[in-house]
Amino acid sequence: MPTVLITGASSGIGRATALALAQRGWRVLAGVRREADGRALRQAAGPAVEPVLLDVTNPAHVRAAAEAVDRWTGAAGLQGLVNNAGIAAAGPVELVPEAVWRHQLEVNVVGVVAVTRALLPALRRGRGRLVLMGSVAGLVALPFMGPYAASKFALEALADALRIELAPWRIQVCLIEPAAVATPIWARSVEVARRSLLPPPPDAAPVYQAAVAAMTRVAERNARRGLAPEVVAEAVVHALTARRPRSRYLVAPPGHARQIRLLRWLPTGLRDRLVGATVQRLLARSRTAPTGAKAVEPTEPGSG
Ligand SMILES: NC(=O)c1ccc[n+]([C@@H]2O[C@H](COP(=O)([O-])OP(=O)(O)OC[C@H]3O[C@@H](n4cnc5c(N)ncnc54)[C@H](OP(=O)(O)O)[C@@H]3O)[C@@H](O)[C@H]2O)c1
Repeated sequence: MPTVLITGASSGIGRATALALAQRGWRVLAGVRREADGRALRQAAGPAVEPVLLDVTNPAHVRAAAEAVDRWTGAAGLQGLVNNAGIAAAGPVELVPEAVWRHQLEVNVVGVVAVTRALLPALRRGRGRLVLMGSVAGLVALPFMGPYAASKFALEALADALRIELAPWRIQVCLIEPAAVATPIWARSVEVARRSLLPPPPDAAPVYQAAVAAMTRVAERNARRGLAPEVVAEAVVHALTARRPRSRYLVAPPGHARQIRLLRWLPTGLRDRLVGATVQRLLARSRTAPTGAKAVEPTEPGSG
Protein backbone atom coordinates (compact mmCIF):
# COMPACT_ATOMS: atom_id res chain seq x y z
CA MET A 1 0.00 0.00 0.00
CA PRO A 2 1.62 3.32 -1.04
CA THR A 3 1.88 5.95 1.70
CA VAL A 4 1.53 9.72 1.33
CA LEU A 5 1.84 12.56 3.82
CA ILE A 6 -0.40 15.58 3.17
CA THR A 7 0.03 18.80 5.14
CA GLY A 8 -3.00 20.97 5.91
CA ALA A 9 -5.54 18.17 5.54
CA SER A 10 -8.18 19.58 7.91
CA SER A 11 -10.15 21.39 5.20
CA GLY A 12 -10.37 22.43 1.56
CA ILE A 13 -7.94 20.98 -0.97
CA GLY A 14 -5.91 18.99 1.57
CA ARG A 15 -8.97 17.26 2.94
CA ALA A 16 -10.33 16.50 -0.55
CA THR A 17 -6.93 15.09 -1.53
CA ALA A 18 -6.79 12.91 1.59
CA LEU A 19 -10.23 11.47 0.78
CA ALA A 20 -9.39 10.94 -2.91
CA LEU A 21 -6.15 9.11 -2.16
CA ALA A 22 -7.67 7.00 0.64
CA GLN A 23 -10.41 5.92 -1.81
CA ARG A 24 -7.70 4.81 -4.24
CA GLY A 25 -6.01 2.56 -1.73
CA TRP A 26 -3.32 4.88 -0.37
CA ARG A 27 -2.44 5.06 3.29
CA VAL A 28 -2.72 8.77 4.10
CA LEU A 29 -0.81 10.45 6.89
CA ALA A 30 -2.90 13.58 7.25
CA GLY A 31 -1.31 16.68 8.77
CA VAL A 32 -3.73 18.56 11.04
CA ARG A 33 -3.26 21.16 13.75
CA ARG A 34 -6.08 20.04 16.02
CA GLU A 35 -6.87 16.52 17.19
CA ALA A 36 -10.58 17.11 16.60
CA ASP A 37 -9.86 17.79 12.90
CA GLY A 38 -7.97 14.50 12.72
CA ARG A 39 -10.87 12.61 14.27
CA ALA A 40 -13.37 14.22 11.87
CA LEU A 41 -11.23 13.37 8.87
CA ARG A 42 -10.75 9.78 9.96
CA GLN A 43 -14.47 9.44 10.49
CA ALA A 44 -15.10 10.64 6.93
CA ALA A 45 -12.26 8.71 5.25
CA GLY A 46 -11.93 5.53 7.32
CA PRO A 47 -8.91 3.75 8.78
CA ALA A 48 -6.68 4.40 5.74
CA VAL A 49 -6.25 7.94 7.09
CA GLU A 50 -3.88 8.43 10.01
CA PRO A 51 -3.92 11.96 11.46
CA VAL A 52 -0.55 13.51 12.33
CA LEU A 53 -0.29 16.64 14.49
CA LEU A 54 1.67 18.95 12.19
CA ASP A 55 2.01 22.70 12.30
CA VAL A 56 4.56 23.27 9.55
CA THR A 57 6.05 26.24 11.42
CA ASN A 58 6.77 24.13 14.50
CA PRO A 59 10.17 22.37 14.24
CA ALA A 60 9.22 19.85 16.95
CA HIS A 61 6.08 18.88 15.00
CA VAL A 62 8.07 18.53 11.78
CA ARG A 63 10.64 16.32 13.50
CA ALA A 64 7.94 14.20 15.14
CA ALA A 65 6.12 13.81 11.80
CA ALA A 66 9.32 12.58 10.12
CA GLU A 67 9.87 10.09 12.96
CA ALA A 68 6.28 8.91 12.69
CA VAL A 69 6.72 8.41 8.93
CA ASP A 70 9.85 6.33 9.60
CA ARG A 71 7.98 4.23 12.17
CA TRP A 72 4.99 3.66 9.89
CA THR A 73 6.78 3.06 6.63
CA GLY A 74 10.16 1.61 7.64
CA ALA A 75 12.29 0.49 4.71
CA ALA A 76 9.38 0.98 2.28
CA GLY A 77 9.61 4.76 2.76
CA LEU A 78 7.18 7.36 1.50
CA GLN A 79 5.64 7.33 -1.99
CA GLY A 80 4.28 10.86 -1.84
CA LEU A 81 4.60 14.13 0.05
CA VAL A 82 1.96 16.78 -0.65
CA ASN A 83 2.97 20.18 0.71
CA ASN A 84 -0.50 21.65 0.75
CA ALA A 85 -0.78 23.67 3.99
CA GLY A 86 -1.11 27.36 3.30
CA ILE A 87 -2.60 30.66 4.32
CA ALA A 88 -3.40 33.77 2.29
CA ALA A 89 -2.51 37.22 3.59
CA ALA A 90 -3.87 39.99 1.41
CA GLY A 91 -4.01 43.76 1.39
CA PRO A 92 -2.12 46.74 0.01
CA VAL A 93 1.62 46.15 0.48
CA GLU A 94 1.88 49.38 2.46
CA LEU A 95 -0.75 48.30 4.98
CA VAL A 96 0.28 44.70 5.67
CA PRO A 97 2.36 44.62 8.87
CA GLU A 98 5.75 42.95 8.70
CA ALA A 99 4.63 40.32 11.22
CA VAL A 100 1.94 39.22 8.77
CA TRP A 101 4.45 39.17 5.87
CA ARG A 102 6.77 37.02 7.97
CA HIS A 103 4.04 34.62 8.97
CA GLN A 104 2.84 34.33 5.36
CA LEU A 105 6.31 33.34 4.17
CA GLU A 106 6.96 31.20 7.24
CA VAL A 107 3.91 28.99 6.56
CA ASN A 108 3.82 28.94 2.76
CA VAL A 109 7.54 28.85 2.00
CA VAL A 110 9.75 28.03 5.00
CA GLY A 111 7.20 25.47 6.24
CA VAL A 112 7.29 23.74 2.85
CA VAL A 113 11.09 23.67 2.89
CA ALA A 114 11.19 22.35 6.48
CA VAL A 115 8.73 19.53 5.84
CA THR A 116 10.39 18.62 2.54
CA ARG A 117 13.88 18.50 4.06
CA ALA A 118 12.68 16.37 6.99
CA LEU A 119 10.95 13.87 4.71
CA LEU A 120 13.45 13.60 1.88
CA PRO A 121 15.19 10.53 3.37
CA ALA A 122 11.81 8.72 3.49
CA LEU A 123 10.99 9.91 -0.06
CA ARG A 124 14.35 8.62 -1.30
CA ARG A 125 13.75 5.23 0.32
CA GLY A 126 10.25 5.06 -1.13
CA ARG A 127 11.09 6.46 -4.59
CA GLY A 128 8.34 8.92 -3.79
CA ARG A 129 7.08 12.06 -5.51
CA LEU A 130 7.01 15.57 -4.15
CA VAL A 131 3.96 17.74 -4.76
CA LEU A 132 3.91 21.46 -3.97
CA MET A 133 0.64 23.40 -3.83
CA GLY A 134 1.37 26.56 -5.79
CA SER A 135 -1.26 28.84 -7.28
CA VAL A 136 -1.99 30.95 -10.33
CA ALA A 137 -0.95 33.73 -7.92
CA GLY A 138 2.57 32.33 -8.40
CA LEU A 139 2.31 32.99 -12.14
CA VAL A 140 0.69 36.42 -12.23
CA ALA A 141 0.73 38.60 -9.10
CA LEU A 142 -2.41 40.62 -8.60
CA PRO A 143 -2.37 43.88 -6.68
CA PHE A 144 -3.57 43.69 -3.07
CA MET A 145 -2.53 40.01 -2.96
CA GLY A 146 1.17 40.81 -2.60
CA PRO A 147 2.10 38.65 0.42
CA TYR A 148 0.27 35.58 -0.89
CA ALA A 149 1.59 36.03 -4.44
CA ALA A 150 5.15 36.47 -3.14
CA SER A 151 4.86 33.16 -1.28
CA LYS A 152 3.55 31.34 -4.35
CA PHE A 153 6.20 32.86 -6.65
CA ALA A 154 8.73 31.51 -4.16
CA LEU A 155 7.25 28.02 -4.58
CA GLU A 156 7.72 28.29 -8.35
CA ALA A 157 11.43 28.91 -7.75
CA LEU A 158 11.63 26.17 -5.13
CA ALA A 159 10.07 23.66 -7.52
CA ASP A 160 12.51 24.64 -10.29
CA ALA A 161 15.49 24.18 -7.97
CA LEU A 162 14.25 20.91 -6.44
CA ARG A 163 13.37 19.30 -9.79
CA ILE A 164 17.00 19.39 -10.81
CA GLU A 165 18.53 18.84 -7.37
CA LEU A 166 16.45 15.70 -6.79
CA ALA A 167 16.83 14.28 -10.30
CA PRO A 168 19.76 12.01 -9.23
CA TRP A 169 17.25 10.05 -7.10
CA ARG A 170 14.47 10.27 -9.70
CA ILE A 171 12.23 12.10 -7.23
CA GLN A 172 9.62 13.81 -9.41
CA VAL A 173 8.64 17.30 -8.32
CA CYS A 174 5.16 18.49 -9.35
CA LEU A 175 3.75 21.93 -8.79
CA ILE A 176 -0.04 22.33 -8.73
CA GLU A 177 -1.22 25.80 -9.80
CA PRO A 178 -4.94 26.14 -9.08
CA ALA A 179 -7.08 29.16 -9.86
CA ALA A 180 -9.69 30.18 -7.27
CA VAL A 181 -11.04 27.20 -5.34
CA ALA A 182 -14.09 27.35 -3.06
CA THR A 183 -12.47 26.69 0.33
CA PRO A 184 -12.31 28.36 3.76
CA ILE A 185 -9.03 30.08 2.79
CA TRP A 186 -10.94 33.08 1.41
CA ALA A 187 -12.96 33.81 4.56
CA ARG A 188 -9.82 33.27 6.63
CA SER A 189 -7.92 35.72 4.44
CA VAL A 190 -10.61 38.40 4.80
CA GLU A 191 -10.59 37.90 8.55
CA VAL A 192 -6.79 38.26 8.78
CA ALA A 193 -6.95 41.46 6.73
CA ARG A 194 -9.75 42.80 8.90
CA ARG A 195 -7.76 42.13 12.07
CA SER A 196 -4.31 43.13 10.91
CA LEU A 197 -4.20 45.81 8.20
CA LEU A 198 -2.55 49.00 9.36
CA PRO A 199 -4.37 52.33 9.16
CA PRO A 200 -3.68 54.01 5.82
CA PRO A 201 -2.02 57.43 5.66
CA PRO A 202 -4.86 60.01 5.43
CA ASP A 203 -4.17 60.94 1.82
CA ALA A 204 -4.24 57.27 0.78
CA ALA A 205 -7.31 56.25 2.77
CA PRO A 206 -9.96 56.52 0.00
CA VAL A 207 -7.86 54.52 -2.47
CA TYR A 208 -6.96 51.79 0.01
CA GLN A 209 -10.42 51.54 1.54
CA ALA A 210 -11.90 50.98 -1.93
CA ALA A 211 -9.20 48.40 -2.67
CA VAL A 212 -9.90 46.46 0.52
CA ALA A 213 -13.63 46.52 -0.17
CA ALA A 214 -13.04 45.23 -3.72
CA MET A 215 -10.66 42.55 -2.42
CA THR A 216 -13.31 41.41 0.04
CA ARG A 217 -15.89 41.13 -2.73
CA VAL A 218 -13.56 39.04 -4.84
CA ALA A 219 -12.81 36.77 -1.88
CA GLU A 220 -16.50 36.33 -1.12
CA ARG A 221 -17.22 35.49 -4.75
CA ASN A 222 -14.33 33.02 -4.96
CA ALA A 223 -15.49 31.29 -1.77
CA ARG A 224 -18.88 30.72 -3.45
CA ARG A 225 -17.98 30.27 -7.10
CA GLY A 226 -14.44 28.88 -7.14
CA LEU A 227 -13.56 25.42 -8.42
CA ALA A 228 -14.50 22.45 -6.24
CA PRO A 229 -11.50 21.30 -4.14
CA GLU A 230 -12.05 17.80 -5.57
CA VAL A 231 -10.94 19.09 -8.99
CA VAL A 232 -7.57 20.07 -7.54
CA ALA A 233 -7.39 16.77 -5.62
CA GLU A 234 -7.62 14.94 -8.96
CA ALA A 235 -4.60 16.86 -10.25
CA VAL A 236 -2.67 15.76 -7.14
CA VAL A 237 -3.75 12.16 -7.71
CA HIS A 238 -2.47 12.41 -11.28
CA ALA A 239 0.83 13.87 -10.09
CA LEU A 240 1.29 10.98 -7.66
CA THR A 241 0.11 8.12 -9.83
CA ALA A 242 0.61 8.89 -13.53
CA ARG A 243 3.41 7.04 -15.27
CA ARG A 244 4.67 10.37 -16.58
CA PRO A 245 3.55 13.11 -14.19
CA ARG A 246 3.71 16.72 -15.33
CA SER A 247 6.01 19.27 -13.71
CA ARG A 248 3.20 21.81 -13.56
CA TYR A 249 -0.56 21.40 -13.35
CA LEU A 250 -2.44 24.60 -14.11
CA VAL A 251 -5.91 23.84 -12.72
CA ALA A 252 -8.32 26.45 -14.01
CA PRO A 253 -11.39 26.77 -16.25
CA PRO A 254 -10.12 26.74 -19.87
CA GLY A 255 -10.73 30.47 -20.55
CA HIS A 256 -8.98 31.46 -17.34
CA ALA A 257 -6.01 29.18 -18.02
CA ARG A 258 -5.56 30.84 -21.44
CA GLN A 259 -5.71 34.30 -19.82
CA ILE A 260 -3.07 33.36 -17.25
CA ARG A 261 -0.73 31.95 -19.90
CA LEU A 262 -1.18 35.06 -22.04
CA LEU A 263 -0.71 37.54 -19.17
CA ARG A 264 2.47 35.77 -18.15
CA TRP A 265 4.12 36.27 -21.49
CA LEU A 266 2.90 39.80 -22.27
CA PRO A 267 5.34 42.69 -21.97
CA THR A 268 5.13 44.13 -18.45
CA GLY A 269 3.59 47.45 -19.50
CA LEU A 270 0.76 45.80 -21.40
CA ARG A 271 0.15 43.25 -18.62
CA ASP A 272 -0.04 46.05 -16.04
CA ARG A 273 -2.57 47.92 -18.17
CA LEU A 274 -4.79 44.83 -18.53
CA VAL A 275 -4.59 43.88 -14.85
CA GLY A 276 -5.00 47.53 -13.85
CA ALA A 277 -8.15 47.86 -15.98
CA THR A 278 -9.66 44.78 -14.30
CA VAL A 279 -8.85 46.21 -10.89
CA GLN A 280 -10.44 49.54 -11.83
CA ARG A 281 -13.63 47.71 -12.85
CA LEU A 282 -13.69 45.89 -9.51
CA LEU A 283 -13.12 49.15 -7.66
CA ALA A 284 -15.94 50.84 -9.58
CA ARG A 285 -18.29 47.98 -8.69
CA SER A 286 -17.33 48.02 -5.04
CA ARG A 287 -18.06 51.76 -4.87
CA THR A 288 -21.65 51.06 -5.89
CA ALA A 289 -22.36 47.72 -4.20
CA PRO A 290 -22.40 47.02 -0.45
CA THR A 291 -19.99 44.36 0.87
CA GLY A 292 -19.17 42.73 4.18
CA ALA A 293 -15.94 44.75 4.10
CA LYS A 294 -15.21 47.26 6.80
CA ALA A 295 -13.18 50.37 6.19
CA VAL A 296 -9.49 49.87 6.87
CA GLU A 297 -9.13 50.39 10.56
CA PRO A 298 -6.25 50.19 13.04
CA THR A 299 -5.98 46.73 14.63
CA GLU A 300 -3.37 44.38 15.99
CA PRO A 301 -1.30 42.42 13.47
CA GLY A 302 -2.85 38.94 13.05
CA SER A 303 -1.15 35.73 12.09
CA GLY A 304 -3.66 33.78 10.02
N1 LIG B 1 -8.56 28.10 -2.33
C1 LIG B 1 -7.92 28.61 -3.40
O1 LIG B 1 -8.49 29.41 -4.18
C2 LIG B 1 -6.51 28.18 -3.70
C3 LIG B 1 -6.00 28.45 -5.00
C4 LIG B 1 -4.68 28.10 -5.28
C5 LIG B 1 -3.92 27.49 -4.31
N2 LIG B 1 -4.42 27.24 -3.07
C6 LIG B 1 -3.55 26.63 -2.07
O2 LIG B 1 -4.11 25.41 -1.63
C7 LIG B 1 -3.61 25.11 -0.33
C8 LIG B 1 -4.76 24.70 0.56
O3 LIG B 1 -5.62 25.81 0.72
P1 LIG B 1 -7.21 25.68 0.75
O4 LIG B 1 -7.73 26.57 -0.28
O5 LIG B 1 -7.64 24.26 0.78
O6 LIG B 1 -7.50 26.42 2.14
P2 LIG B 1 -7.96 25.92 3.56
O7 LIG B 1 -9.22 25.14 3.46
O8 LIG B 1 -7.92 27.14 4.41
O9 LIG B 1 -6.81 24.90 3.98
C9 LIG B 1 -5.57 25.31 4.44
C10 LIG B 1 -4.97 24.19 5.24
O10 LIG B 1 -3.67 24.60 5.68
C11 LIG B 1 -3.60 24.41 7.07
N3 LIG B 1 -2.65 25.28 7.72
C12 LIG B 1 -2.65 26.62 7.85
N4 LIG B 1 -1.58 27.04 8.54
C13 LIG B 1 -0.87 25.92 8.84
C14 LIG B 1 0.32 25.67 9.52
N5 LIG B 1 1.04 26.66 10.11
N6 LIG B 1 0.76 24.39 9.63
C15 LIG B 1 0.06 23.39 9.09
N7 LIG B 1 -1.10 23.54 8.46
C16 LIG B 1 -1.55 24.80 8.32
C17 LIG B 1 -5.02 24.64 7.57
O11 LIG B 1 -5.14 24.08 8.85
P3 LIG B 1 -6.09 24.73 9.99
O12 LIG B 1 -7.48 24.28 9.64
O13 LIG B 1 -5.57 24.15 11.25
O14 LIG B 1 -5.92 26.22 9.90
C18 LIG B 1 -5.79 23.91 6.51
O15 LIG B 1 -5.77 22.53 6.75
C19 LIG B 1 -2.87 26.37 0.15
O16 LIG B 1 -1.49 26.20 -0.04
C20 LIG B 1 -3.38 27.44 -0.79
O17 LIG B 1 -2.48 28.49 -0.96
C21 LIG B 1 -5.71 27.58 -2.75
